[in-house]
Amino acid sequence: MALQPILDRRVVLVAGKGGVGRTTTTAAMARAAAASGKRVLVTEIEEPATQAQSSLARMFGREVLPTRPVLLAPGVHGCMLSTEMGTERFLADVFKIQTLARLALRNAALRRLLHAGPSFHEMGVFYHLLHLIREELPDGRPRFDFILVDMPATGHALALTGLPDILLRLVRRGPIAAALREGQGWLNDPHTGCAVVVTIPEPLPVTEALELVEGLQATHMAVCCMVANRVPVDPFDEEARAALADILPDGPLYGKEELARIERARTSLERLQKSAEARVIAVPEFEADGREAVDAMAAFFLGQEFPSTGGLP
Ligand SMILES: Nc1ncnc2c1ncn2[C@@H]1O[C@H](COP(=O)(O)OP(=O)(O)OP(=O)(O)O)[C@@H](O)[C@H]1O
Ligand SMILES: [Mg+2]
Repeated sequence: MALQPILDRRVVLVAGKGGVGRTTTTAAMARAAAASGKRVLVTEIEEPATQAQSSLARMFGREVLPTRPVLLAPGVHGCMLSTEMGTERFLADVFKIQTLARLALRNAALRRLLHAGPSFHEMGVFYHLLHLIREELPDGRPRFDFILVDMPATGHALALTGLPDILLRLVRRGPIAAALREGQGWLNDPHTGCAVVVTIPEPLPVTEALELVEGLQATHMAVCCMVANRVPVDPFDEEARAALADILPDGPLYGKEELARIERARTSLERLQKSAEARVIAVPEFEADGREAVDAMAAFFLGQEFPSTGGLP
């Protein structure tokens, strides 16, 4: 299966610019991973401003995701990563291991963290994720052995992956530093953590995706694969294309724009394959969207047949 190398990781961050198909890819990878026997958890990051909207939940026929994992589909649980839940977990863990917890709250480093403003949100999310990674079944196996994070669009994603490095400069000791290092251990070890960068095969988005790869690498996240999503299926072979090239410059042709798009997709995909060190999985454009696109993409990842699409009208 195309996803095999990714399935060996514990935590996979699905990143990319807005609208390219991150959520669809996350949901489809979850379904494919569950079909291959993984205990999957899909997560998305709470947006404090726009609560109650969850496109990830909708891909599984729900309106919202709770902060505790619920079963969404066979083998797939899902939850929202929330600042509040993370902070609560953090304090609960600290209180349990330290009777001096109250003192910790007066600790200068912790105070600095709480006052650091924006990082408070990321830290809560980060700790919530760590808590879910740590969760175990009664027999000691991880409760979830494949955790996917539907990351926010580019800038916010880097704020999260860059968090440990920056905070560890401020907070070197104590429970927060320990949590950050433990989280780094999972995310930054390419055997356990990786990022998948999703893009569409168009010139500008590909440029941005390659920049995102650099950004992620700067925060020590390995990029294990790239998904070129919505690749239009080319209905022509070399010969037909050469014949069309002769006709095209001279005037109107039904589907001319679509043909140009197919061409752009082809050159963009080639550029991505050349420039990216990571493997590129080219996912076709399906004649479906929403949950049906998830079904089609999951089937594609599992190597099943999918209806071919695209082409001239
Ligand atoms: N391969 C595909 N074929 C057809 N439609 C697709 C494909 N991938 C995604 N879509 C559709 O594109 C739209 C955007 O996809 P999605 O919501 O997954 O993107 P996103 O990157 O998560 O967007 P956002 O930035 O809003 O979170 C959806 O309507 C989805 O159904
Ligand atoms: Mg999305």
